[in-house]
Amino acid sequence: MEGTKQNSRTVLITGATSGIGYEFAKIFHREGYNLVLTGRDKEVLKKLDKELGSVSIALDLSKSGSVSELYEFTKKKNLDVEILVNNAGFGSFGEFIAQDNADAMVQVNIASLTTLTQLYGRDMAKKGHGKILNIASVAAYFPGPYASVYYASKAYVLSFSEGLREELKKKGVQVCVLCPGATKTKFFVRAGINNSRLEMMGTMDAAKVAEIGYSGLMKDKGVIIPGFTNFVFVGLARHMPRFVLRKLMASLQK
Ligand SMILES: NC(=O)c1ccc[n+]([C@@H]2O[C@H](COP(=O)([O-])OP(=O)(O)OC[C@H]3O[C@@H](n4cnc5c(N)ncnc54)[C@H](OP(=O)(O)O)[C@@H]3O)[C@@H](O)[C@H]2O)c1
Repeated sequence: MEGTKQNSRTVLITGATSGIGYEFAKIFHREGYNLVLTGRDKEVLKKLDKELGSVSIALDLSKSGSVSELYEFTKKKNLDVEILVNNAGFGSFGEFIAQDNADAMVQVNIASLTTLTQLYGRDMAKKGHGKILNIASVAAYFPGPYASVYYASKAYVLSFSEGLREELKKKGVQVCVLCPGATKTKFFVRAGINNSRLEMMGTMDAAKVAEIGYSGLMKDKGVIIPGFTNFVFVGLARHMPRFVLRKLMASLQK
């Protein structure tokens, strides 16, 4: 197939048009993988196809039918996905009762990720090998007042991935979950909270986060938490009483 490397493995990355997903695309390209990329931005995807020799499809993962469209696309093109990186996701901050994108967030962050994992996980299980990397967040460990849907969506991704890891390992399929903390991407601007206290507490470079994610996946680490600070946050979350955590998190959302 045009643009693909013969005898090379294929990785499918969702949300590859910016931030952490784009950095993953560059790393997998460097490591000699064939890339299948998605996002909504057609122009960026075209540029990526030129830059990285990828095959891409523009899709809005909040829309019904988009996941089957993606799966059919890879089948028709005979793209044998050996690694799935479920990275696409977004956050929304503000009062839940005033949010108009909660359904879309559940669709992208939870439902699409779950269906993609099932479709490609099934294929991988049949072959007896494959890897799935789901992108959760440090937020998975905390309650998130004024971002409850986003935080809960990431708690789902963490729990789902950890449970599935134990199921699929018997079938030769590796499931890992990456939990980044605040990372320099378009995420905060898109979520309407750039310059918030949460962001100001320190952000990591997206390239660094993706490198740690890639290395964790290759070493088959179940839960990958990039950066010492994020590791400490997760430790705190595990040991602090929940009512204290709730108040603390409410004070950080601005
Ligand atoms: N940045 C952080 O602080 C942080 C921390 C923890 C976890 N994360 C997680 O890391 C992942 C990547 O986020 P990022 O920080 O790299 O943010 P980003 O720069 O905004 O990238 C998000 C990616 O997801 C795609 N996407 C968003 N909505 C989509 C939709 N409806 N349909 C299809 N694709 C969609 C975007 O594609 P288009 O723009 O082309 O639509 C983009 O490629 C997300 O799951 C996020 O929750 C981020």
